[in-house]
Amino acid sequence: MSTVGIIGAGHIGTALAHGLVARGYDVVIANSRGPETLTDLIASLDGKARAATASEAADAADWAIVTVPLKALPDIPAAPLAGKIVLDTCNYYPQRDGRIAALDEKRATTSQLMQEHLPDSKVAKAFNHIVAEQIVTDGSPAGTPDRRALATASDHPEATAFVTALYDDFGYDTVDVGPLGESWRVERDQPAYVVRQNADELRANLARATR
Ligand SMILES: NC(=O)c1ccc[n+]([C@@H]2O[C@H](COP(=O)([O-])OP(=O)(O)OC[C@H]3O[C@@H](n4cnc5c(N)ncnc54)[C@H](OP(=O)(O)O)[C@@H]3O)[C@@H](O)[C@H]2O)c1
Repeated sequence: MSTVGIIGAGHIGTALAHGLVARGYDVVIANSRGPETLTDLIASLDGKARAATASEAADAADWAIVTVPLKALPDIPAAPLAGKIVLDTCNYYPQRDGRIAALDEKRATTSQLMQEHLPDSKVAKAFNHIVAEQIVTDGSPAGTPDRRALATASDHPEATAFVTALYDDFGYDTVDVGPLGESWRVERDQPAYVVRQNADELRANLARATR
């Protein structure tokens, strides 16, 4: 089974680490304060995870998840993530992240900024419009009526296919929003943001998004 590098060990990083370990993945997880501050989390992950620095997690990863406040994007190590699929859960909250002109002026999406920062990685938007705790509780088997759906977007079809399979494994249908330039449709304050919706409802919410 592959090794996942998770950069960010907060609400989303923790939920995904638990979900991934339960599915047999090896997890290497990092925060900003250092691996020694992640002892309790690692203890709760049944020996299938270890704490590291962000560079070490990126280096060990077969694929990675970046799940930090958007303001920390410049700190994410690009070189060890080159060639790898990178899932981006990040959202833009100006009161937390400061003002980012490219987003305020709608010249970019949050995931385009990540792709720009990680030019040699295959970035995909993922798990950005579900409340952290629901990630491991709201999934259901494929074919369940009214199964919850999550959106993804990427400029790399391989990354979209990867997220689609991972979502299914976590119990979610996938709606492909298209390239990263379209991922504003699932960003903060849009109709599809952090509401429970099946695939038809998600498609309808994406269609009525306004920028
Ligand atoms: N919470 C949700 O339900 C939710 C849902 C969807 C999407 N999101 C988005 O996903 C991202 C993560 O959300 P969250 O709620 O998990 O955030 P959080 O609970 O505040 O956790 C953020 C994590 O990022 C780490 N971090 C900060 N700067 C870093 C750096 N320079 N290098 C490495 N790690 C760093 C923090 O480490 P330290 O604690 O050591 O500083 C912490 O572990 C955000 O962009 C958020 O908007 C959140």
